[in-house]
Amino acid sequence: MRAAPLAAVLVVAACSGSGAVPRPDAAMAAASGVGLEELTRGRQVYVTSCSGCHRLYRIDEFDRVGWESAVRDMAPKAKLAPAGRDELLGYLRAAAR
Ligand code: HEC
Repeated sequence: MRAAPLAAVLVVAACSGSGAVPRPDAAMAAASGVGLEELTRGRQVYVTSCSGCHRLYRIDEFDRVGWESAVRDMAPKAKLAPAGRDELLGYLRAAAR
């Protein structure tokens, strides 16, 4: 069966690739008006606090409004402090489609 190894490669690529949860760069910072360090902290909050109960959703699965409502529901579940929540929102808004 030839499909299995390819599928495994694709799963690894989906989990580790920066495409699913893009790393902030200067262009993202400029377009969003949020500093690169803050965006990077926001991505870190997402990766560490939002993967405990379910898979890490791809950022392009939701638009800004979708992410804002998800964070409203999920920030208490993830027990985020207000600062972490703000950083997370800044990152998601900047990275969302
Ligand atoms: C304590 C467990 C838990 C944590 C931590 C958690 N979630 Fe969730 N999440 C859920 C559950 C349960 C659902 C599905 C039911 C629901 O929508 O409440 C869900 C659903 C979602 C959905 C909706 C998916 C859809 O198809 O509509 C998104 C988006 C999401 N979570 C994002 C996040 C983000 C962002 C964080 C980090 C701030 C996070 N989650 C942390 C339990 C959690």
